[in-house]
Amino acid sequence: MYRVADYGALIADTVRMGAFVTALKRTIKPGAIVIDVGTGTGIFALIACALGARRVYAIEPNDAIDVAREIAAANGYADRIEFHHARSTDVTLPERGEVLIADIGGMLPWFERAIPSIVDARRRLLAPDGVILPRRDTIWTAVVDAAEMYSRLTRGWEANEFGIDMSAARDLVVNAWARGRISEDQLLAPPRRCAGVDYANIDDPDVEMNVEWVIARAGVGHGVAAGFDRTVVEGVEISNAPDAPAHVRPTLVYEPVFFPWPRPLVLEAGDVVSLELRASLLHDEYVWAWKTQARRGNGETKGVFNQSTFLGTPLSLERFRRQARQ
Ligand SMILES: C[S@@+](CC[C@H](N)C(=O)[O-])C[C@H]1O[C@@H](n2cnc3c(N)ncnc32)[C@H](O)[C@@H]1O
Repeated sequence: MYRVADYGALIADTVRMGAFVTALKRTIKPGAIVIDVGTGTGIFALIACALGARRVYAIEPNDAIDVAREIAAANGYADRIEFHHARSTDVTLPERGEVLIADIGGMLPWFERAIPSIVDARRRLLAPDGVILPRRDTIWTAVVDAAEMYSRLTRGWEANEFGIDMSAARDLVVNAWARGRISEDQLLAPPRRCAGVDYANIDDPDVEMNVEWVIARAGVGHGVAAGFDRTVVEGVEISNAPDAPAHVRPTLVYEPVFFPWPRPLVLEAGDVVSLELRASLLHDEYVWAWKTQARRGNGETKGVFNQSTFLGTPLSLERFRRQARQ
């Protein structure tokens, strides 16, 4: 759930905003009908008005929409923006939009119900020749030496001076993804492209990615980092991929995602690491599963890990009952 401060970070991030404003300037023609799914505090809806949109439908389930209403009134755009305090999937509009803005993914596109929402908005709310922003994502993953991030996750649960075995909690945290910045010197092999999402065509909310790396330099692998190259509009990109150059990398939002391994692995140049990474939407959340195999150049196994976010949260009977009722 976004707080108003989170929307502030999205707006203050000059890389993200620069890319979206360029995309809006290129896409929104005077008189256009625009749909802003996930308007938050309304920034894109307001910019669309400033660019001459005739009507903007701004949709947001978060109470921050009341702040957006206030900001629209303060800027003289209240009469051109129709606010809907709801999820886009529950909204019916009197006309179809020419431009659909839907920056509703998280650090990766597979986030909450972002993909089904975009598919639904594309089918019901957008004109057949309408444009979706952002247009597409390419997903990159890399094996990383991330000692600091790994230690932050696990050190509270390792053997301790109190002689108390906390390993049950350690098993949980290594089965959950984390977020954190990665620098190029942490990569043990060049990032590999492992999936693409074209928002004009995507239908399937789930994904399976298979990727293999030949380790380029010796180091300790702690897991896999993943991020996207996002084409907001042709020629305008932002990226949180593990090797993203600074000029396209948002600094305040969209940290890369880190899938930790259950234990660090000493890797040599020439070792081969393969990964099967799956995201399956269950209700409103994704279950991520990641299977890793590391072997020496001669085929000898160094490690086999089978992990899932299903094993990354305490599973209470009460939660199962609640979910079963939904
Ligand atoms: C990354 S924020 C973007 C906020 C705003 N566009 C901005 O740039 O400041 C994503 C927003 O999308 C909203 N959201 C997610 N799914 C939605 C849906 N199906 N319909 C409407 N809003 C949605 C979330 O509540 C969140 O406020």
